Amino acid sequence: MSGCPYFGKKHQLLPNKLQSQEEEDNSQAGINKASKGGIIYGDYLQLDKVVTAQVLQSELAGNKIHDEHLFIVTHQAYELWFKQILWELDSIRDIFIGGHVRDERNMLKVATRMHRITMIFRLLVNQFSVLETMTALDFFDFRDYLSPASGFQSLQFRLLENKIGVADSQRVPYNRRHYRDNFRGEDSELLLKSEQEPTLLLLVDQWLERTPGLEEEGFNFWGKLQANIKEWLRLEKEQIEKMTELESETKEEMMADLSKQKENFTALFDEKRHGHLLSKGERRLSYKALQGALMIYFYREEPRFQVPFQLLTFLMDIDGLMTKWRYNHVCMVHRMIGSKAGTGGSSGYHYLRSTVSDRYKVFVDLFNLATFLVPRKWVPKLNPNVHTFLYTAELCDSSYCSSEDSDYNEDATG
Ligand code: HEM
Repeated sequence: MSGCPYFGKKHQLLPNKLQSQEEEDNSQAGINKASKGGIIYGDYLQLDKVVTAQVLQSELAGNKIHDEHLFIVTHQAYELWFKQILWELDSIRDIFIGGHVRDERNMLKVATRMHRITMIFRLLVNQFSVLETMTALDFFDFRDYLSPASGFQSLQFRLLENKIGVADSQRVPYNRRHYRDNFRGEDSELLLKSEQEPTLLLLVDQWLERTPGLEEEGFNFWGKLQANIKEWLRLEKEQIEKMTELESETKEEMMADLSKQKENFTALFDEKRHGHLLSKGERRLSYKALQGALMIYFYREEPRFQVPFQLLTFLMDIDGLMTKWRYNHVCMVHRMIGSKAGTGGSSGYHYLRSTVSDRYKVFVDLFNLATFLVPRKWVPKLNPNVHTFLYTAELCDSSYCSSEDSDYNEDATG
């Protein structure tokens, strides 16, 4: 080791210089393929259309307002992402409609795309903060120019709600009128079609009804769960009664808790009550599908249920993120226009606030299932036979469908 620090550094500097020269040369290696013809970036993305589509109404009126550009770009960015979500959603619905989920290997594709939708939604929920850099006064400067245009007329947003499964009967009326009255011609037809086609909710419902293990003549999950819960509630009651050392007030409280639990479970196992709640829109899944979802919750660690469990989680995420989108939007609207009417003609803030509600939650039952989760020891035990079928996935009889194959099939069915 040299005693001279400078000498040491000099030694290190020399090879470094050579190395960076070499790197520089490597960074310049390659050929400019674009010069040889073929499609180039701007053409591929049709940027001539995209970046010239920002027409400021204020400018057309001879009073160009700077922030209107941000307002337009933000809306366009939202619409592009809505388009991507619809693209993913349609492909997922096609996989279900075509029966491809019967081959459980396709569930990974469904879950991956659903996850992608949730990631886009996360972005959309946060994207409002960019627009919020505009002040209410800046918005006021150009707001009149865009009237009567309004986000309420966003076709893609309505398609999205319909395809996921927002129920028509649950929608908040818009100035006492049906939302579709604001659309004309082809747009109105597209909306009507999206209301009539199988929604994601319906498709998931049908899929959940087929959950292996629900068959009464087989594992009979529901029957076993009901029996277990009944027995455990009885034992708990017995134990509380035996606790002589407890003060009577504490004992009463414990008994009240227990009877609340009992009430909850009685409601869960009451098919008629389920039907009643379904007709009121307070439950959205069929009785059988609800059982399937609960079964997947309980046995989510079993290989066959791992991806389905993730899927159920993503569905809740979508609902939660849609609610957050509505909430962030209405907060922004409040700060921009206070309680003035919207450009589209609604009461504005008050109308939007009423849409931040469970009425718009499609997979509300999946959230509510948490009410019925029970300690692991109450969950029916799996015997070796059941274990085997929870390890053995259902496959289609044809050879394995690669991603491309099942997408091809989707197109064929869609
Ligand atoms: C300054 C910013 C914004 C204001 C003041 C605003 C205001 C409003 C108002 C008042 C409504 C109710 C309908 C009406 O009477 O017009 C509405 C609805 C709506 N807006 Fe916005 N908005 C803004 C930004 C956005 C952005 C960036 C999007 C993104 C696409 C958007 C999408 C929507 C949608 C989809 C609806 C219908 C919601 C429903 O009916 O549930 N808005 N907006």
